[in-house]
Amino acid sequence: MLRIILAAALVIALSFSAMAEAKSIVIVYSRADENYGVGNITVGNTMKLAQIIAEKTGAELFEVKPAKEYPADYDSCIDVAKKEQNANARPAILEDKDISEYDTIYFGYPIWWGDIPMCMYTFVEAHDWNGKTVIPFCTHEGSGPGRTFRTLKATMKGADVKNVTAVRGSTAQNDRSASERAISGMLK
Ligand SMILES: Cc1cc2nc3c(=O)[nH]c(=O)nc-3n(C[C@H](O)[C@H](O)[C@H](O)COP(=O)(O)O)c2cc1C
Repeated sequence: MLRIILAAALVIALSFSAMAEAKSIVIVYSRADENYGVGNITVGNTMKLAQIIAEKTGAELFEVKPAKEYPADYDSCIDVAKKEQNANARPAILEDKDISEYDTIYFGYPIWWGDIPMCMYTFVEAHDWNGKTVIPFCTHEGSGPGRTFRTLKATMKGADVKNVTAVRGSTAQNDRSASERAISGMLK
C-alpha cells in the first residue's frame, strides 16, 4: 500500500514539475509604417496582438526582423512582397531565436498575398518543430487567414498546429477590447 502511495506521489510530483517547466513564446513578424486601412502606424497590427498575448500569458516575445527592411510606403511594399513570393525567396533575418526550450509557440504574422511573409518561411525552415504546439494568429484586411494553415502544417513538421486566429488589422490596431475578445479562445 505504502509503495502505491509513494508511486502516486511521484507521478503527481513529476507532472507538476513538467507543468512548471512548460514554456511558451510569442514569435511575430509585423510591419509598422504605411499600411492599408490604418495609415502610418508606429506599432504593426500583428505586433499589437502579440503584445496582448505576451501580456496575458506571460510568454516571452521575439520579433522576427528582416535584414533588409521592407519599404515604408504601402504600394512599394506590396510590390516587393509579391516579387519575393513569386521568386519563392527566403529573405535573411537579422537575428534568430533558439526555440528548443519552448513547448508552446504563438506564431504571429500579417497575411501577405494570401500567405505568410517570406521572411517567416526563413524563420520556420531554420527550426525543428517536432513536438511543439503551435498556435498561429494573423491580421489581414479582408481575406482571413488565406492558405497559412496549410503552409504552417506543411513546413512545421511534427508540430501540433492549431487553427489560425485571424483578426482584421484595423481592429488589432484600434480596438483593444475587440482584439482581446478575438484572441481569448486561443490562449493556453
Ligand atoms: C505586402 C502586403 C500584402 C498584403 N496581402 C494581403 C492579403 O492577401 N489579404 C489581406 O486580407 N490583406 C493583405 N494585406 C494587408 C495586411 O495583411 C494587413 O494590413 C495586416 O494587418 C498588416 O499587419 P502588420 O501591421 O502586422 O504587418 C497585405 C499587406 C501588405 C503590406
